[in-house]
Amino acid sequence: MTTLLVLPEDRPDAAPEVIFDSAGIAARLAADGVRFERWAVRDVPAVDDVLSAYADEVKRISEAEGFIQVDVASLHPDPTDPEWPAKAAAARSKFLEEHTHDDGEVRFFVDGRGAFYLRLGGKVLIVICEAGDLISVPADTRHWFDMGTNPSFTAIRFFLVEEGWVGRFTGDPIASRFPRLDDLVASSAS
Ligand SMILES: [Fe+2]
Repeated sequence: MTTLLVLPEDRPDAAPEVIFDSAGIAARLAADGVRFERWAVRDVPAVDDVLSAYADEVKRISEAEGFIQVDVASLHPDPTDPEWPAKAAAARSKFLEEHTHDDGEVRFFVDGRGAFYLRLGGKVLIVICEAGDLISVPADTRHWFDMGTNPSFTAIRFFLVEEGWVGRFTGDPIASRFPRLDDLVASSAS
């Protein structure tokens, strides 16, 4: 379930404010300049069909926001691939420490799950995104992303610059102090 948890940035062990409903999540994130939308989840037979399945939404938001590049990132467990654990760990580690971008980071989750951690206004806002969620992290926002130890997701990525994803790592170890996606999912299931 899509979930927003809000914690003080200096008290990762505090009891979080938790919001489950989409309108409440959108309103709380909008207060810090972060766009969150829910799109209707469509049936997508294969990764190659993602952009055609969401063509209307992609066109609308690209025209509104000026995105010049759109692509699809997809990662799912492959039990037949002995290299999967190493590939998963390498993919996860790229985004797991605090960083910023000159460009906004805009993602729509077609399937699966991932957690954005946004450091804003003395808080860390943890958005556990699932299928149907669009999130737009403003440029220069300190954040990190956890796809979990067994990543499984497909996401449309929108870019304002041709260079695509370029992260500027802050060197602040804050991410290591906050619960990771696996822990959050495990605690919500218990
Ligand atoms: Fe990022």
